[in-house]
Amino acid sequence: MNPLAASQPLRLALPKGRNLKPALAAFAAAGIPLERLDLEGRVLRQELPDAHLEVLFLKDWDLPFYVEHGVADLGIVGSDVLAEVGGDLLIPLRLAAGRSRLSLIGRPGATPRPGQQVRLATKYVESARAYLAGAAFSAEVFPLAGSVELAPFLGLADLAVDIVQTGATLEAHGLVELEVIHEVAPCIVVNRAAFQTRRDRLNQWMQALESAEVAV
Ligand code: PRP
Repeated sequence: MNPLAASQPLRLALPKGRNLKPALAAFAAAGIPLERLDLEGRVLRQELPDAHLEVLFLKDWDLPFYVEHGVADLGIVGSDVLAEVGGDLLIPLRLAAGRSRLSLIGRPGATPRPGQQVRLATKYVESARAYLAGAAFSAEVFPLAGSVELAPFLGLADLAVDIVQTGATLEAHGLVELEVIHEVAPCIVVNRAAFQTRRDRLNQWMQALESAEVAV
């Protein structure tokens, strides 16, 4: 083990999106002290010297790059995002909370007939294409950056592939889940080199998360 690396604060990347809350709850349950973080301010890198930690607040889609390139030792990011951006990362655990689904959504009864050609909006282009490869219908994919429900709601597209968690966004737009494509979970991702150089501390964290039954 490199003693210099081990003496540096552990650098944790937290997602700014919907996975932040379950991530903080999981760390709290595991006794990992993040309660001093300022969640209201605008500071994107915060030091917690008492906990020998440094925390980065990142957009979900950027987080895997920071961890893969060793700028952060570990982070939390959804499996939905990992399926799109990939990266050479270790994924030792998935959080029990914060689960959702990647689903085909549209107006009630909008499931395409076999052989039909439709327009499909999504920000999950890779996952949508993989799903379409096995579907009975074909689609022109419209890549969007967010608020994807508006596309079938306003007629930009016939369908969308998007995250459904509580279903509240669908309901607010008169849309329904036509098919669940796969389950989505917040994942712990770890930099490969850090898993060696910071092994003791990372193992302690993973064991604490598992013992608290907040990750599997
Ligand atoms: C996701 C998804 C829906 C919402 C679904 O948005 O795109 O808009 O969550 O959640 P619900 O079923 O609980 O209503 P996300 O937070 O990923 O942000 P986005 O608008 O950038 O897609």
